[in-house]
Amino acid sequence: MDGNGRWAGRHGLPRVEGHKQGTRSARAIVEECRRIGIKHLTLYAFSHENWSRPKDEIDFLFNLLADFLRGELGTLIRQDIRLNILGEIEALPLSTRKVIQMACYKTRNSRSMDLNLALNYSGRLEIVRACRMIMEEGLDPEDLTPEMFSKYLYTSGQPDPDLIIRTSGEYRISNYLLYQSAYSELYFTDTLWPEFSSDHLHQALESFSQRQRRFGRI
Ligand code: FPP
Repeated sequence: MDGNGRWAGRHGLPRVEGHKQGTRSARAIVEECRRIGIKHLTLYAFSHENWSRPKDEIDFLFNLLADFLRGELGTLIRQDIRLNILGEIEALPLSTRKVIQMACYKTRNSRSMDLNLALNYSGRLEIVRACRMIMEEGLDPEDLTPEMFSKYLYTSGQPDPDLIIRTSGEYRISNYLLYQSAYSELYFTDTLWPEFSSDHLHQALESFSQRQRRFGRI
């Protein structure tokens, strides 16, 4: 969900207004994905590297996230959407963590869609964390397969992403779902996240539908 700060700058607003507007895009995209039957949606909300931002912006983001979840929880439950977190939430402020844990608990039985929020997330750390768990379990190295490795990732039990959309004209993967994205289709758009609408989502899906996915075959 990139481009919030630039959107705010272009409108002569403080960066945090871009994040506020970004939550409106997030709400619209979640609703549209649920409506059209997308089963798994992940929003990259806060990377491990984002801790280097000014403290005021970080505090604002976590409060905004908590408000967003409090405000949307009823809708998530009604829409049968399960909330999952990818990342180390232990490092988040306690008040935000409590709202997250409550929302995950209350939606744990929902099955129509998985909404994953990547929070304090790093693809490399996720892989290292998986390795640590595997080593702690003392698994025989010969028994380890790529499928088994996936079970130690935050996304365990969910399919790899078919499509990854990056907004705001940046052409990088930025430590996002590094293991899971091996065969994901990538879609880059100049649209800034606060302006990313259902129409933009459908343009991305249209592009995806025209891709030939060979998964390494000819
Ligand atoms: C990237 O834009 C955006 C973020 C680091 C935060 C995304 C968070 C939200 C939209 C709010 C809370 C989350 C949810 C799920 C509602 P940027 O600040 O890097 O923008 P820039 O590159 O233009 O500076």
